[in-house]
Amino acid sequence: MKTPIVVGNWKMYTTLTHARQLAARIRTALHALSITAEQCTVILCPPFVNLAAVEEEIRGSALLLGAQNCWTESYGAFTGEVSAEMLHAVGCRYVIVGHSERRTIFGEDDILIATKFKRTWEAGLVPILCIGESLRQRQQHQTWHVLRMQLETVLSTAPDVKDWICAYEPVWAIGTGIAASPREIAEAHAFLRDYLCGVDYDHIPLLYGGSVNEKNCKDIFTLDGVDGVLVGTASLQAESFVAIVEQGMYAKQTTD
Ligand code: PGA
Repeated sequence: MKTPIVVGNWKMYTTLTHARQLAARIRTALHALSITAEQCTVILCPPFVNLAAVEEEIRGSALLLGAQNCWTESYGAFTGEVSAEMLHAVGCRYVIVGHSERRTIFGEDDILIATKFKRTWEAGLVPILCIGESLRQRQQHQTWHVLRMQLETVLSTAPDVKDWICAYEPVWAIGTGIAASPREIAEAHAFLRDYLCGVDYDHIPLLYGGSVNEKNCKDIFTLDGVDGVLVGTASLQAESFVAIVEQGMYAKQTTD
């Protein structure tokens, strides 16, 4: 296993005060446990308006900053949007691209996601590309086809992007409290690893996301081919998030 990666996606939660407190609590807890950046890559993705404050809270610590989305252009008349360059300037190192909530609620398609993916990279940030099938697609045995199509569109649009992270997030497992089973995760990761190796992206870390919590994460971290997790709900409590980080680190130490 490579250095485990744990991403906290705060979604549209936290006010400014809460975001500061949450980041400070996570920082303090990681410090108390002597968890370093070499042991676990921990990325916090607060809402846009709280990025600068969280950056201040985590500066000089092992924590890294990410955003949940960005627009496809560097600047311009795009009311309400935020560019990858702006995110870079505020201290972000990562951007989540193609989260299923962006795809389903905001109608983002693979082409738009591919453009954002490319833009993120050009701005000096690492894209965290989310892919995953819906329940209906799984029931209709289309999972592998969907995953392949989602990856193919992005990689053919942005062949120069070499450093990125892939998060397998079955839509039916996100925010439902029902994570995919270890077997389902292992199968999907084996399929994705095989696909990525075939197109010369074997170095890309593969995460799992969807109802990860401090109770189920150990079984997920120890699966072959899982390099880390993307956490939504459980990232909003410092205790549960830090417990996930701790178990990720432990899983790495014991599987090395
Ligand atoms: P969840 O969210 O952990 O609440 O299911 C996962 C995600 O944001 O992708």
